[in-house]
Amino acid sequence: MNRPRITLSYAQSLDGCIAAAPGQRTLLSGPEAMKMTHQLRAQHDAILVGVGTVIADNPRLNVRLVEGPSPQPIVLDSHLRIPLQSALIQSPTHPVWVFCSTNVQAATKVSLEAAGVHVFMVNEGETKHIDLSEILHVCYTKGIRSLMVEGGAKIIQAFLRAGLVDEVVITITPGFLTGLAALTTPLSHLPQFITPKYQVFGSDIVVTAKLLWET
Ligand SMILES: NC(=O)c1ccc[n+]([C@@H]2O[C@H](COP(=O)([O-])OP(=O)(O)OC[C@H]3O[C@@H](n4cnc5c(N)ncnc54)[C@H](OP(=O)(O)O)[C@@H]3O)[C@@H](O)[C@H]2O)c1
Repeated sequence: MNRPRITLSYAQSLDGCIAAAPGQRTLLSGPEAMKMTHQLRAQHDAILVGVGTVIADNPRLNVRLVEGPSPQPIVLDSHLRIPLQSALIQSPTHPVWVFCSTNVQAATKVSLEAAGVHVFMVNEGETKHIDLSEILHVCYTKGIRSLMVEGGAKIIQAFLRAGLVDEVVITITPGFLTGLAALTTPLSHLPQFITPKYQVFGSDIVVTAKLLWET
């Protein structure tokens, strides 16, 4: 199946947490690593998060800290819970794409579309969530060749569980959070990290590696 190349990118504390508590917006990266993240965004056709991140962080997912194009924002949101007042809808760089299940309320879909959202209905996969393979195929057919997955925890785990990550760019910040862990459930297959690189950005370390999944 044709799909975009996928980079998984997030920031974590030394104890592997991506937020101080579930659903809590937590600034982790320092300014230098944040700039690197914006550079990475500019190098991808699209950027994807789960609706949990939209509700918690209200992100814009665009490129502001460096020169470069902003990627197409994509939200996975089975039940169309994305708030109409979210920044992705109210001040978009591109009209946001929202992937939902086939049994959402028609009225909610209509009001989101009236606000400029592109809604794509997809089937449930084996995991009872909307099917990542189908979503990625739709993205590919719409011209998306590179996709940056930026979280949160459930989305990170869903992509890793499905083996749908080609590269990781993980910022590690000094400090403990004892909060929401990036990974909480076991992965049935563990990827190999190929030619990992460790770079210092201000007070953070950024780990970059290609992933090799056993077939
Ligand atoms: N440190 C970082 O780099 C970073 C980055 C991003 C977010 N965060 C933090 O992460 C937290 C949010 O994480 P989260 O786990 O609550 O939310 P999330 O991963 O952003 O979104 C999870 C939601 O996505 C929906 N979804 C749709 N399709 C899915 C699929 N195939 N697999 C899994 N989920 C799917 C589900 O809701 P439905 O069932 O309603 O569709 C699910 O509850 C916040 O605290 C935020 O601050 C941190």
